[in-house]
Amino acid sequence: MRLTPRWRKALLVVHVLTAVGWFGADLVLLTLAVAGLAGADARVVYPAAALLAAWLFAPLSAVVWLVGLVNGLGTRWGLFRYRWVLVKLVLTTIMLGLVLFLLVPNLRAAAAQSLEPGAGGHPDLIAPPIVSGSLLVFMTIVSVYKPWGRVKRAEGPARVTATAQPTPAGVRNVRR
Ligand code: HEM
Repeated sequence: MRLTPRWRKALLVVHVLTAVGWFGADLVLLTLAVAGLAGADARVVYPAAALLAAWLFAPLSAVVWLVGLVNGLGTRWGLFRYRWVLVKLVLTTIMLGLVLFLLVPNLRAAAAQSLEPGAGGHPDLIAPPIVSGSLLVFMTIVSVYKPWGRVKRAEGPARVTATAQPTPAGVRNVRR
């Protein structure tokens, strides 16, 4: 399945926009986590962070992951052909899992605790947006520079013949 140039561009716009949105949501989460530690009202900060995670951060992560899959499958880049795509696939999949199964439940718990008398800050909520934001910056750089070339294929006469591709010989990182 190959996307037509028009669909490819449209999907790339959605891909980049949603990834940028994910990064923005990271910054908001970090702001809330820092505010919570700096003494802002926990009954405001943590329910807001939990809402943001459940209604924006988690859906955006899933959309970035899904659109990334379609981007890979619908273009000559594939999902497992180039290392820069494979690295993004692995990192995004891990991040999506952490968001859905760790961050959202932790923020829900923090929001519930914040309603109890004498509730304080949660230092453990600072690291997730920093790690996630740094990985997103890394993946943006990797996407633009497209380093590391192709994933090596298993050698073998039968396989080489069967999978021969009409790609330009010796060219590793050509777009399109
Ligand atoms: C499942 C994870 C992902 C996969 C499989 C994936 C795959 C791809 C593919 C195949 C392209 C090239 C599309 C084309 O040329 O039409 C692309 C472009 C791009 N991706 Fe991803 N991506 C993923 C996640 C991400 C994330 C998390 C970010 C940002 C942090 C990101 C940022 C970008 C950017 C900025 C481009 C445009 C690069 C350019 O046009 O030079 N991607 N991605």
